[in-house]
Amino acid sequence: MAALLSSLLILSFFSLGTSLSSNYYQKTCPNAESIIKKAVIDATKNDKTAPAALVRMHFHDCFIRGCDGSVLINSKGKNTAEKDGPPNKSLHAFYVIDNAKKALESACPGVVSCADILAVAARDATVVSGGPSWDVPKGRKDGRISRASETSQLPAPTFNISQLQQSWSQRGLSMEDLVALSGGHTLGFSHCSSFNNRIHNFNSTFDIDPSLQPSFAATLRRVCPARNNAKKAGVTMDPSSTTFDNTYYKLILQNKVVFSSDNALLNSPKTKSLVSKFASSSDAFFKAFAKSMIKMSSITGGQEIRKDCRVVN
Ligand code: HEM
Ligand SMILES: *[C@@H]1O[C@H](CO)[C@@H](O)[C@H](O)[C@H]1NC(C)=O
Ligand SMILES: *[C@@H]1O[C@H](CO)[C@@H](O)[C@H](O)[C@H]1NC(C)=O
Ligand SMILES: *[C@@H]1O[C@H](CO)[C@@H](O)[C@H](O)[C@H]1NC(C)=O
Repeated sequence: MAALLSSLLILSFFSLGTSLSSNYYQKTCPNAESIIKKAVIDATKNDKTAPAALVRMHFHDCFIRGCDGSVLINSKGKNTAEKDGPPNKSLHAFYVIDNAKKALESACPGVVSCADILAVAARDATVVSGGPSWDVPKGRKDGRISRASETSQLPAPTFNISQLQQSWSQRGLSMEDLVALSGGHTLGFSHCSSFNNRIHNFNSTFDIDPSLQPSFAATLRRVCPARNNAKKAGVTMDPSSTTFDNTYYKLILQNKVVFSSDNALLNSPKTKSLVSKFASSSDAFFKAFAKSMIKMSSITGGQEIRKDCRVVN
């Protein structure tokens, strides 16, 4: 009962208010989307890791206080912000949002929220990597609160299927959304610390997680030879880590995915059948990804249009 009540509370807390629309800036800032797209394309020319960073940043934003740009705020004084909280290592490319915001402030000052910039940039990052496109509903407001301690609300890479389900359903997201959006792991990089649990002292019986394909596990151990290894070491989550494709699902079926939470998608009949479906049809994956991104990015939460995405007004 308490759990039910608290999930209802979280749900209403995250989704109250703001209604979004695709043509939100049509009159007030008609070039908003092309300005954001340019910032993403320009960044990607010099920094192949920017698209992955933007897709992940939007996910983190939406899972904490709704998609309100809280992930973009800098720590200040005594307040340590989300971006400086524990799972912060792979959050980067904040400069892309700054560049877009700067251009938007000169085209239409005070109009486009940072939360919207991030939602649009995540879509553009997907497209620039070869993934699907979709209309991004807009009209989000920016939040004024960002706390490092709240990053503990993010799902952890050690989560099993029931923990994942709980984390997602608290935000009104389904198991289909979970499987489709986990496909974001077709892009980007993971540090050893995010999967060390599987390759050193897994449990009292096994040193290495037996659900890892053995030669893949050996590769991970070569890169990450000890539990507390070099902070920078890690692996790409998919060999085609700058191309948005359905390889991730094929890797799940081969037991060659880095996180326990990725492998966990095989542990319920429903999620397992979706993994097989997306592994055999990139079209089905692309459609589902676009649909679920719209759903996740419609969890709103803020109050203002920030002038500087790193600082509350
Ligand atoms: C299902 C729950 C999820 C968990 C537990 C999870 C966990 C993680 C972890 C641990 C990393 C690596 C961090 C590091 O070591 O540097 C990572 C990277 C990443 N995640 Fe997820 N993630 C989840 C869902 C998502 C979703 C929904 C998306 C987007 C749709 C996403 C997109 C990414 C991307 C693109 C990266 C690579 C970032 C980069 O290279 O900069 N993840 N994720
Ligand atoms: C990440 O968080 C840790 C604290 O958990 C902090 O010491 C570190 O400076 C942060 N790193 C970045 C890049 O913000
Ligand atoms: C998942 O993990 C939680 C917390 O460790 C545990 O209570 C639960 O039994 C696990 N569920 C499954 C299906 O393994
Ligand atoms: C260790 O993990 C394996 C595979 O997940 C499991 O079957 C086994 O029960 C676990 N052993 C202990 C002692 O937890």
